[in-house]
Amino acid sequence: MTKDNEKITNPKDDPKVVQPGDGGIPNELPHHSKFIDKHAILEKNATLLLVSSFLVVTIGGIVEIAPLFWLENTIEEVEGVRPYSPLELTGRDIYVREGCYVCHSQMIRPMRDEVERYGHYSLAAESMYDHPFQWGSKRTGPDLARVGGRYSDAWHVDHFANPQAVVPESVMPKYDYLARAEIEPDHIRDLMVTHRLVGVPYTDEMIDAAVTDFRVQVDPFGDYDGLLERYPGAQVRNFDGQEALTEMDALIAYLQMLGTLVDFSTFSADASR
Ligand code: HEC
Repeated sequence: MTKDNEKITNPKDDPKVVQPGDGGIPNELPHHSKFIDKHAILEKNATLLLVSSFLVVTIGGIVEIAPLFWLENTIEEVEGVRPYSPLELTGRDIYVREGCYVCHSQMIRPMRDEVERYGHYSLAAESMYDHPFQWGSKRTGPDLARVGGRYSDAWHVDHFANPQAVVPESVMPKYDYLARAEIEPDHIRDLMVTHRLVGVPYTDEMIDAAVTDFRVQVDPFGDYDGLLERYPGAQVRNFDGQEALTEMDALIAYLQMLGTLVDFSTFSADASR
């Protein structure tokens, strides 16, 4: 036995360390609980440790994932967010087709520099009807989540025709051909039915009126009351300034509504959720 104030150099001399033959794990401090001692069984048996780890991960996984099967929706509903009108939905398709997402994101992160430049950070609800979502991670150009109303339609027409004419140092390609590509709402019903299939709440009424709504959104002299009733806040006007209904109309209709649905002067995040 050693005295307390003597320096111990050999663990064998330490009364607090378990010695071989003592019954515990050699050279470990003795545990004070018999239950914790049992852990040695797991530590010494690789197969048992593997099986037990698997069990623990499985239970943890089930606890996290299972509730999601019973939840209808994990997105907090926000007033003002509605499905895209037929023309906006078509514009969105053109946006995806042209690969605009390769250079533009649509998600404002809750960081000061972003919020000061682009406006209120994006809410999950604002992209709840996006299939596929357009959040993106590449920003060769600016974020477009709140570009709606920032520029006039004419600015967009000029910018798409020749971006460098508006912003000389721009690397954005020309999309002048969109103004020459006339469109017909031939596939709009199918498109909306497909979106309904993946969860967008398009009603039968919306789908029946799709062709009319598509055309009337570019006709400020038309009867667009039904359109506004079905898609509150939809903007009705001749977006590209020409007689014909073109892809340019659809794309600008889409851009001009981006980020305009939620009224942030009345919105307050519900922190209780
Ligand atoms: C090669 C990358 C690239 C592609 C592809 C691209 N853009 Fe851009 N875009 C830019 C850059 C860079 C700017 C900033 C300079 C400018 O305004 O032209 C920009 C600016 C914009 C702006 C003005 C945004 C603002 O807040 O000032 C809009 C709107 C826009 N792009 C829409 C589109 C759309 C719609 C498409 C697809 C049809 C598209 N862009 C494709 C690079 C791109």
